[in-house]
Amino acid sequence: MLVLGFESTAHTFGAAVVESSSPNASLASRENTRVLSNEVSKYPSLREGYIPRKMAEHHAKHCREAAAAALAKARVKLRELDAIAYSQGPGIGHCLHVGYIAAKALSSLLGIPLIPVNHALAHVEIGRWWCEARDPLVCYIAGGNTQIAARMHVNGGWRYHVFGETLDIGLGNFLDLVGRKLELKPPDAVGVLNAAVKGRNFVELPYTVKGMNLAYAGMLTALERLKGKTSDGDLCFSAQETAFAAFVEAAERCLCHTRNKEVLLCGGNARNRRLQEMLRLMSEEHRARFCATSDEYSGDQAAMIALTGLLQHLAGATYEDLKPRQRMRLDSQVMKW
Ligand code: FE2
Repeated sequence: MLVLGFESTAHTFGAAVVESSSPNASLASRENTRVLSNEVSKYPSLREGYIPRKMAEHHAKHCREAAAAALAKARVKLRELDAIAYSQGPGIGHCLHVGYIAAKALSSLLGIPLIPVNHALAHVEIGRWWCEARDPLVCYIAGGNTQIAARMHVNGGWRYHVFGETLDIGLGNFLDLVGRKLELKPPDAVGVLNAAVKGRNFVELPYTVKGMNLAYAGMLTALERLKGKTSDGDLCFSAQETAFAAFVEAAERCLCHTRNKEVLLCGGNARNRRLQEMLRLMSEEHRARFCATSDEYSGDQAAMIALTGLLQHLAGATYEDLKPRQRMRLDSQVMKW
């Protein structure tokens, strides 16, 4: 089975082809399910931030070449495809519609199914596939999302139940905002990471953990007040340490409750080595295997959309609505695998 996937929830437009010889979704592994291509075109991180209209224009401009490159790299012809998957949400409306229109047009033209994919679930599923994890405690950390979840049978189906999450901004957005407020280069989480390496002194910042939930806005206000009075390196170092420690505390509480034997880190911020180190130490103390999604599959890309679409197709999933939805949650999706 061959699936072409499109990703366009935010700053990235992606197209990817995934192939599988697995007889069913539950048996999909890295051996029988492969990513043949994974093309990414990213809207640049600018000081003005991300403007929806401009990002949608970027996606519309690069959509055709990304799809053509993905098919060429995979050595797959359009007529060989079995289905088209696209990111249904959550995301920015303008951007989501570009991926939807591209996917819908191709599926109609080729007469093959259009598969709507929950972007949050796709981050988890590609992490699970990459790490060969069976039933992990999920630490999903991205721009707009910061959640701790585990697979459970609730409300009549298997889904990722969210035990803890941010009550205000996502950890990724928090780091991006720190980069922008401190005018770092680049003005985002990467700028924070680069500056944090130069930090030597820990500055105390608001630390908000409420049970298994978290909040980061107070820390952002405190950092704005300290700007100019303390070095950027010390501020970034302290911001990362405090934000990550709060997340790990909440994740540990959750792990003690669920007793999962694996801990999976996924989402755009899974690439942060310090965060990986802190979660690994915590997991090992509880005799759980820690695994992190690879750098290539952590950020937004279409391989995760094609892979999750393929799993849904193999599992015989049906859909009430194919149109984009700006608000979707990880725990809203029932999984048939
Ligand atoms: Fe994402």
